[in-house]
Order: sequence, then structure tokens, then C-alpha cells
Amino acid sequence: MAPTIASPLLSDLVAQTGKVPLSHVRPVGDRPDLANVDNESGAGIPLIDLKKFNGPERWKVVQAIGRACESDGFFMVTNHGIPAGVVEGMLRVAREFFHLPESERLKCYSDDPKKAIRLSTSFNVRTEKVNNWRDFLRLHCYPLETFVDQWPSNPASFRQVVGTYATEARALALRLLEAISESLDLERSHMVKAMGRHAQHMAVNYYPPCPQPELTYGLPGHKDPNAITLLLQDGVSGLQVQRDGRWVAVNPVPNALVINIGDQIQALSNDRYKSVLHRVIVNSKSERISVPTFYCPSPDAVVAPAGALVDDGHPLAYRPFTYQEYYDEFWNMGLQSASCLDRFRPG
Ligand code: OGA
Ligand code: NI
Repeated sequence: MAPTIASPLLSDLVAQTGKVPLSHVRPVGDRPDLANVDNESGAGIPLIDLKKFNGPERWKVVQAIGRACESDGFFMVTNHGIPAGVVEGMLRVAREFFHLPESERLKCYSDDPKKAIRLSTSFNVRTEKVNNWRDFLRLHCYPLETFVDQWPSNPASFRQVVGTYATEARALALRLLEAISESLDLERSHMVKAMGRHAQHMAVNYYPPCPQPELTYGLPGHKDPNAITLLLQDGVSGLQVQRDGRWVAVNPVPNALVINIGDQIQALSNDRYKSVLHRVIVNSKSERISVPTFYCPSPDAVVAPAGALVDDGHPLAYRPFTYQEYYDEFWNMGLQSASCLDRFRPG
């Protein structure tokens, strides 16, 4: 009989066991308390229509974004400018990719967080004690021509479809960074300039159905290390954000994208805007696909709070650091609720 080789990817493991393996069972006390989640519609995060973004009422949109960044750190946008066909294409090839045979998917597998293009599982299997209920494909996306030839070539349309989505997502990220700068009374280009040569990473997250969702996480509570995240989710719920100590479900809204502030905007805004704790829970009925675009400074960019936001009442919250320094620290720490930012306080 051929020896069984453990599948490195969760999707294939699940197909074999039908229950949550011990490797994915969280200790009691560190499990999602699913009964204790704010799931009512209306309790959700602000929904902002970007239709008036380029007209005389731009300031209203900018104000709404500023308020959302200050209070929730999360908001949703409609009329965001990414064509519906591009969004649908992105979700379609994502699903096709994760439905490929194991042997085909494994061609992209790596557990090395330093690789620019890789398929992996959980978060960082090299360092974590309990794994998460997620497989993910990570792609560096900017500059596109530097990376696209290393992306998966199966499905055949993958590079073209995902490249188009990534380009559209970058344009939206730049518009949002401008709005965020304006909302802080900074020069419109402040945040865009602070990104140095700019970088853009994408994750294609695949959360298989889970027989015992109360035992594990898709992703445990964490804050995003980048500047701003644009999240595309399919029609399945799973994302939750923390507000006043409670978890609030961010249920999918048709044609909307979820935007959240990452640690770099928190630092650049000198703590005016908050990078907020969020997590992903899984369910027993359906697989879930989400595609976060992580817009970030280039590794060599020096991140420092904007001078105009530092005064007697708002002392300097962080020492200057390079994004590379920050990012290395983030991957080494692993996903946890403690903020990586606290390691960059001055003095
Ligand atoms: C992430 C994340 C949310 C989701 O990948 O950092 O928070 O819904 N994802 O998959
Ligand atoms: Ni996240």
C-alpha cells in the first residue's frame, strides 16, 4: 500500500477527515463565542456611497470617510468604480483556482512568508501552535509587470483577470488614500507620498466548510499591518470586527467592498485613525472566498506620524521606522490581538 502523505493544504485534509483535526482546535477560552456576536443588520459598519466623490460634494464623502476611520476603522463603499464584471471575474477565477486538483495547486505551495508568490495554509505554519481554517494564495501585485509572470497560470485566464482586478483595486486605493489625507487636513497627496515607491499585496482566501465552527477560526483576531485594506468577499458571512469590546458581523452587501485602516495609517495619522481588531469565523454549510488587497508602503519607505498631527495635546506616538522593519516584526509575532505598533512607540 502506498504511504499516506499528509496534505499540507487544509482543503485536502478536510476532504479526508470530515472533522476538525487537533491541529486546528483552539484551546478552551480561545474559541469564537458564536452566540455572543452582534449580527443584526443596521448594527454594521458605515456604508459610504462614493458616487459624489468627483463632484462638488466631494467634501461630504471625505468627511464620512474621516468619521468612519476615526470611529470604526472599517467602512463599506458602493459605487467604488471597479466594474462589476471585473469583480465577478476575480471571484470566479479564485474559486476555479481552489477547486483545481491538489497536485495542480501544490505547484504553488510554500510555507516561507518571504516569498512574493505562494499558496499556503493557516497564517504562518512555521511559528504558530494552532492552525487556522484557511488556505490562501498570496500575490505581490505592484508593479504588476514585476510579478505577474510568477503568478499561477492555471486557470488559463488567471493572470489576465486578476491583473485587471489588481489594477482597478490600486486605483481605488489611491483615491481612498487621497480622501484620508484630506479628511485629516493634510495635503491631498500626503498618504500617497508616504507610501514611497508603493507596494500592493493580494490574498485570495479560501475557507472550506468546517464541521465544527465553534472550535476554530478562519483567522483569529488581528489588525492588518499594511496601510489600507480593500476586501472583496463573496456572498458568505464570516468577517467580524470589534467594536466596544463586542464582535460585530460585517455581512456581505451586494456590490460593496469593505475598507479598513491598517497599522500604517494609524501610525501616519499619529493615532487619529485606528487599525481595528477583526477576525474570520467559518461555518459548516458553505465554503467562503475573500480577496483582500493590502495596499502598503514599499519596504524602504520610512513611516512617521505627519508633523501637522503632532502637538502638545497629541504627542508623537511612534518613532520613524521602515515598512520592512515593521513587516518582519508582524510575521514573527503571528496573529494576535496585541498590537505590533506598540513595539514602535518612541523612547
Ligand atoms: C485578512 C482578513 C478577512 C476576510 O486576510 O487579513 O482579515 O474576510 N481577511 O477574509
Ligand atoms: Ni485582516
